[in-house]
Amino acid sequence: MPHTHLFDLQGKIAFVSGASRGIGEAIAHVLAQQGAHVIVSSRKLEGCQHVADAIIAGGGKATAVACHIGELEQIQQVFAGIREQFGRLDILVNNAATNPQFCNVLDTDPAAFQKTVDVNIRGYFFMSVEAGKLMREHGAGSIINVASINGVSPGLFQGIYSVTKAAVINMTKVFAKECAQFGIRCNALLPGLTDTKFASALVKNEAILNTALQQIPLKRVADPKEMAGAVLYLASDASSYTTGAALNVDGGYLS
Ligand SMILES: NC(=O)c1ccc[n+]([C@@H]2O[C@H](COP(=O)([O-])OP(=O)(O)OC[C@H]3O[C@@H](n4cnc5c(N)ncnc54)[C@H](OP(=O)(O)O)[C@@H]3O)[C@@H](O)[C@H]2O)c1
Repeated sequence: MPHTHLFDLQGKIAFVSGASRGIGEAIAHVLAQQGAHVIVSSRKLEGCQHVADAIIAGGGKATAVACHIGELEQIQQVFAGIREQFGRLDILVNNAATNPQFCNVLDTDPAAFQKTVDVNIRGYFFMSVEAGKLMREHGAGSIINVASINGVSPGLFQGIYSVTKAAVINMTKVFAKECAQFGIRCNALLPGLTDTKFASALVKNEAILNTALQQIPLKRVADPKEMAGAVLYLASDASSYTTGAALNVDGGYLS
Protein backbone atom coordinates (compact mmCIF):
# COMPACT_ATOMS: atom_id res chain seq x y z
CA MET A 1 0.00 0.00 0.00
CA PRO A 2 1.45 3.48 -0.82
CA HIS A 3 2.21 5.99 1.94
CA THR A 4 -0.20 8.84 2.56
CA HIS A 5 0.60 12.17 0.92
CA LEU A 6 -1.41 14.08 3.52
CA PHE A 7 1.75 15.42 5.14
CA ASP A 8 3.73 16.18 1.96
CA LEU A 9 5.07 19.73 1.63
CA GLN A 10 6.86 19.33 -1.72
CA GLY A 11 6.97 22.64 -3.61
CA LYS A 12 5.81 24.66 -0.60
CA ILE A 13 7.59 27.74 0.73
CA ALA A 14 7.58 28.01 4.54
CA PHE A 15 8.78 30.85 6.79
CA VAL A 16 9.67 30.02 10.40
CA SER A 17 10.50 32.88 12.79
CA GLY A 18 12.79 32.16 15.73
CA ALA A 19 14.21 29.18 13.86
CA SER A 20 17.87 29.54 14.91
CA ARG A 21 17.34 27.34 17.97
CA GLY A 22 14.77 25.63 20.20
CA ILE A 23 11.25 24.89 19.00
CA GLY A 24 11.63 26.91 15.79
CA GLU A 25 14.75 24.98 14.77
CA ALA A 26 12.94 21.66 15.29
CA ILE A 27 9.98 22.92 13.23
CA ALA A 28 12.27 24.09 10.41
CA HIS A 29 13.91 20.65 10.17
CA VAL A 30 10.62 18.73 10.05
CA LEU A 31 9.04 21.03 7.43
CA ALA A 32 12.19 20.66 5.29
CA GLN A 33 12.15 16.87 5.72
CA GLN A 34 8.64 16.88 4.23
CA GLY A 35 9.90 18.77 1.16
CA ALA A 36 9.26 22.44 1.95
CA HIS A 37 11.80 25.15 1.15
CA VAL A 38 12.21 26.67 4.60
CA ILE A 39 13.09 30.31 5.20
CA VAL A 40 14.92 30.11 8.53
CA SER A 41 14.66 33.42 10.38
CA SER A 42 15.62 35.16 13.64
CA ARG A 43 17.34 38.42 14.61
CA LYS A 44 20.85 37.08 14.09
CA LEU A 45 21.67 35.75 10.64
CA GLU A 46 24.57 33.56 11.82
CA GLY A 47 22.42 31.18 13.85
CA CYS A 48 19.89 30.94 11.02
CA GLN A 49 22.61 30.21 8.46
CA HIS A 50 23.85 27.39 10.69
CA VAL A 51 20.37 25.78 10.73
CA ALA A 52 19.86 26.37 6.97
CA ASP A 53 23.26 24.78 6.24
CA ALA A 54 22.32 21.72 8.32
CA ILE A 55 19.04 21.36 6.40
CA ILE A 56 20.85 21.65 3.06
CA ALA A 57 23.53 19.17 4.21
CA GLY A 58 20.69 16.73 4.92
CA GLY A 59 19.36 17.09 1.37
CA GLY A 60 16.71 19.73 2.11
CA LYS A 61 16.03 23.25 0.86
CA ALA A 62 16.54 26.30 3.08
CA THR A 63 17.42 30.01 3.09
CA ALA A 64 18.55 32.08 6.08
CA VAL A 65 17.03 35.54 6.59
CA ALA A 66 17.48 38.00 9.48
CA CYS A 67 14.31 39.65 10.81
CA HIS A 68 13.56 41.26 14.18
CA ILE A 69 9.79 40.79 14.34
CA GLY A 70 9.51 43.65 16.83
CA GLU A 71 10.53 46.06 14.05
CA LEU A 72 7.78 46.80 11.52
CA GLU A 73 10.19 48.02 8.82
CA GLN A 74 12.12 44.75 8.99
CA ILE A 75 8.90 42.77 8.50
CA GLN A 76 8.06 44.86 5.42
CA GLN A 77 11.58 44.41 4.00
CA VAL A 78 11.59 40.66 4.54
CA PHE A 79 8.25 40.20 2.79
CA ALA A 80 9.38 42.38 -0.13
CA GLY A 81 12.34 39.98 -0.39
CA ILE A 82 10.13 36.87 -0.23
CA ARG A 83 7.91 38.31 -2.96
CA GLU A 84 10.95 38.99 -5.13
CA GLN A 85 12.77 35.69 -4.53
CA PHE A 86 9.88 33.20 -4.29
CA GLY A 87 6.74 35.07 -5.41
CA ARG A 88 4.69 33.11 -2.91
CA LEU A 89 4.42 31.87 0.67
CA ASP A 90 2.47 28.76 1.62
CA ILE A 91 3.24 28.38 5.33
CA LEU A 92 4.02 30.95 8.04
CA VAL A 93 5.07 29.76 11.49
CA ASN A 94 5.03 32.66 13.95
CA ASN A 95 7.29 31.18 16.60
CA ALA A 96 9.75 33.88 17.77
CA ALA A 97 8.62 35.45 21.03
CA THR A 98 10.12 37.23 24.01
CA ASN A 99 9.70 37.06 27.78
CA PRO A 100 12.17 39.61 29.15
CA GLN A 101 11.04 39.89 32.78
CA PHE A 102 10.12 37.35 35.46
CA CYS A 103 8.44 39.24 38.33
CA ASN A 104 5.27 39.84 40.25
CA VAL A 105 2.81 41.61 37.97
CA LEU A 106 2.94 44.73 40.19
CA ASP A 107 6.64 45.11 39.42
CA THR A 108 6.23 45.06 35.62
CA ASP A 109 8.74 47.37 33.98
CA PRO A 110 7.07 49.52 31.27
CA ALA A 111 9.97 48.90 28.87
CA ALA A 112 9.64 45.11 29.30
CA PHE A 113 5.87 45.45 28.84
CA GLN A 114 6.39 47.37 25.58
CA LYS A 115 8.99 44.95 24.21
CA THR A 116 6.76 41.95 24.96
CA VAL A 117 3.77 43.54 23.26
CA ASP A 118 5.82 44.74 20.26
CA VAL A 119 7.28 41.30 19.55
CA ASN A 120 4.60 38.86 20.72
CA ILE A 121 1.49 40.73 19.56
CA ARG A 122 2.43 43.37 16.96
CA GLY A 123 5.11 41.10 15.43
CA TYR A 124 2.80 38.08 15.06
CA PHE A 125 -0.01 40.33 13.78
CA PHE A 126 1.90 42.09 11.00
CA MET A 127 3.80 38.96 10.00
CA SER A 128 0.37 37.38 9.51
CA VAL A 129 -0.93 40.42 7.60
CA GLU A 130 2.02 40.37 5.19
CA ALA A 131 1.89 36.59 4.77
CA GLY A 132 -1.88 36.71 4.36
CA LYS A 133 -1.62 39.21 1.49
CA LEU A 134 0.82 36.91 -0.35
CA MET A 135 -1.25 33.79 0.38
CA ARG A 136 -4.44 35.52 -0.81
CA GLU A 137 -2.86 35.99 -4.26
CA HIS A 138 -2.57 32.20 -4.59
CA GLY A 139 -5.83 31.37 -2.81
CA ALA A 140 -4.17 29.15 -0.21
CA GLY A 141 -1.99 29.20 2.87
CA SER A 142 -1.54 28.06 6.45
CA ILE A 143 -0.53 30.30 9.35
CA ILE A 144 0.55 28.67 12.60
CA ASN A 145 0.96 30.79 15.72
CA VAL A 146 3.08 29.35 18.49
CA ALA A 147 1.21 30.61 21.58
CA SER A 148 1.60 28.93 24.99
CA ILE A 149 -0.32 27.15 27.75
CA ASN A 150 0.24 30.45 29.58
CA GLY A 151 -2.25 32.05 27.18
CA VAL A 152 -4.94 29.92 28.87
CA SER A 153 -3.54 29.54 32.39
CA PRO A 154 -1.13 32.41 33.23
CA GLY A 155 2.38 31.42 34.28
CA LEU A 156 3.49 32.67 37.70
CA PHE A 157 5.64 35.82 37.38
CA GLN A 158 5.05 35.81 33.60
CA GLY A 159 2.23 38.37 33.62
CA ILE A 160 2.54 40.42 30.46
CA TYR A 161 3.96 37.41 28.56
CA SER A 162 0.83 35.41 29.45
CA VAL A 163 -1.37 38.34 28.39
CA THR A 164 0.31 38.47 24.97
CA LYS A 165 -0.08 34.71 24.51
CA ALA A 166 -3.83 35.01 25.25
CA ALA A 167 -3.92 37.73 22.57
CA VAL A 168 -2.22 35.35 20.12
CA ILE A 169 -4.96 32.74 20.70
CA ASN A 170 -7.64 35.35 19.93
CA MET A 171 -5.60 36.69 16.97
CA THR A 172 -5.59 33.15 15.58
CA LYS A 173 -9.40 33.12 15.55
CA VAL A 174 -9.53 36.60 13.96
CA PHE A 175 -7.33 35.54 11.03
CA ALA A 176 -9.12 32.18 10.76
CA LYS A 177 -12.52 33.86 10.44
CA GLU A 178 -11.55 36.71 8.12
CA CYS A 179 -9.10 34.86 5.86
CA ALA A 180 -10.98 31.59 5.33
CA GLN A 181 -12.59 33.18 2.25
CA PHE A 182 -9.08 33.51 0.75
CA GLY A 183 -8.23 29.83 1.33
CA ILE A 184 -6.05 30.70 4.31
CA ARG A 185 -6.22 28.66 7.52
CA CYS A 186 -4.83 29.91 10.85
CA ASN A 187 -4.26 27.78 13.94
CA ALA A 188 -2.40 28.05 17.24
CA LEU A 189 -0.04 25.64 18.94
CA LEU A 190 0.05 25.79 22.74
CA PRO A 191 3.32 24.23 23.92
CA GLY A 192 3.77 23.17 27.49
CA LEU A 193 7.13 23.36 29.26
CA THR A 194 9.76 22.57 26.62
CA ASP A 195 13.50 22.12 27.12
CA THR A 196 14.97 25.18 25.34
CA LYS A 197 17.10 28.20 26.25
CA PHE A 198 13.85 30.14 26.68
CA ALA A 199 12.74 27.83 29.50
CA SER A 200 16.17 27.17 31.00
CA ALA A 201 15.48 29.25 34.14
CA LEU A 202 12.59 26.88 34.90
CA VAL A 203 14.01 23.59 33.62
CA LYS A 204 17.51 23.93 35.12
CA ASN A 205 16.26 24.79 38.63
CA GLU A 206 15.44 21.48 40.32
CA ALA A 207 12.96 22.91 42.85
CA ILE A 208 11.00 24.81 40.15
CA LEU A 209 11.17 21.84 37.79
CA ASN A 210 9.80 19.42 40.38
CA THR A 211 6.91 21.76 41.19
CA ALA A 212 6.17 22.08 37.47
CA LEU A 213 6.30 18.32 36.89
CA GLN A 214 3.63 17.76 39.55
CA GLN A 215 1.19 19.55 37.24
CA ILE A 216 2.16 17.64 34.08
CA PRO A 217 0.40 14.25 33.77
CA LEU A 218 3.16 12.89 31.49
CA LYS A 219 5.68 13.81 34.27
CA ARG A 220 8.36 15.24 31.98
CA VAL A 221 9.12 18.36 29.97
CA ALA A 222 8.84 18.26 26.18
CA ASP A 223 11.70 17.94 23.73
CA PRO A 224 11.47 20.70 21.05
CA LYS A 225 11.04 17.96 18.42
CA GLU A 226 7.74 17.02 20.06
CA MET A 227 6.27 20.37 18.95
CA ALA A 228 7.22 19.89 15.30
CA GLY A 229 4.78 17.06 14.51
CA ALA A 230 1.83 19.19 15.57
CA VAL A 231 3.06 22.07 13.40
CA LEU A 232 3.47 19.68 10.44
CA TYR A 233 -0.15 18.60 10.91
CA LEU A 234 -1.35 22.23 10.94
CA ALA A 235 0.87 23.19 7.97
CA SER A 236 -0.17 20.31 5.71
CA ASP A 237 -3.30 19.06 3.96
CA ALA A 238 -3.81 16.65 6.86
CA SER A 239 -5.51 19.55 8.66
CA SER A 240 -7.45 20.92 5.65
CA TYR A 241 -10.69 21.33 7.67
CA THR A 242 -9.00 22.72 10.80
CA THR A 243 -8.91 26.49 11.30
CA GLY A 244 -9.14 28.74 14.34
CA ALA A 245 -8.05 25.86 16.57
CA ALA A 246 -5.74 25.96 19.57
CA LEU A 247 -3.84 22.67 19.84
CA ASN A 248 -2.45 21.87 23.29
CA VAL A 249 0.86 19.98 23.18
CA ASP A 250 1.48 20.07 26.91
CA GLY A 251 1.77 16.57 28.35
CA GLY A 252 -1.77 16.96 29.65
CA TYR A 253 -1.11 20.13 31.72
CA LEU A 254 -4.29 21.95 30.66
CA SER A 255 -6.55 18.91 30.97
N1 LIG B 1 10.19 26.65 25.86
C1 LIG B 1 9.00 26.59 26.43
O1 LIG B 1 8.82 26.01 27.52
C2 LIG B 1 7.80 27.24 25.77
C3 LIG B 1 6.54 26.98 26.32
C4 LIG B 1 5.42 27.56 25.71
C5 LIG B 1 5.57 28.34 24.59
N2 LIG B 1 6.83 28.57 24.09
C6 LIG B 1 6.91 29.42 22.90
O2 LIG B 1 7.66 28.75 21.90
C7 LIG B 1 8.27 29.71 21.05
C8 LIG B 1 9.75 29.38 20.86
O3 LIG B 1 10.37 29.36 22.12
P1 LIG B 1 11.71 28.55 22.42
O4 LIG B 1 11.53 27.96 23.77
O5 LIG B 1 12.08 27.70 21.28
O6 LIG B 1 12.75 29.78 22.55
P2 LIG B 1 14.35 29.88 22.30
O7 LIG B 1 14.99 28.55 22.34
O8 LIG B 1 14.82 30.93 23.24
O9 LIG B 1 14.41 30.44 20.80
C9 LIG B 1 13.88 31.70 20.50
C10 LIG B 1 14.10 31.99 19.04
O10 LIG B 1 13.49 33.24 18.71
C11 LIG B 1 14.46 34.14 18.16
N3 LIG B 1 14.05 35.49 18.55
C12 LIG B 1 13.97 36.02 19.81
N4 LIG B 1 13.51 37.27 19.75
C13 LIG B 1 13.26 37.55 18.44
C14 LIG B 1 12.76 38.67 17.75
N5 LIG B 1 12.41 39.80 18.38
N6 LIG B 1 12.64 38.60 16.40
C15 LIG B 1 12.98 37.48 15.73
N7 LIG B 1 13.47 36.38 16.33
C16 LIG B 1 13.60 36.41 17.67
C17 LIG B 1 15.81 33.64 18.70
O11 LIG B 1 16.92 33.94 17.86
P3 LIG B 1 17.71 35.36 17.86
O12 LIG B 1 18.26 35.53 19.23
O13 LIG B 1 18.73 35.21 16.78
O14 LIG B 1 16.68 36.38 17.49
C18 LIG B 1 15.56 32.13 18.67
O15 LIG B 1 15.73 31.64 17.35
C19 LIG B 1 7.97 31.07 21.67
O16 LIG B 1 6.84 31.63 21.04
C20 LIG B 1 7.62 30.73 23.11
O17 LIG B 1 6.77 31.70 23.69
C21 LIG B 1 7.94 28.04 24.64
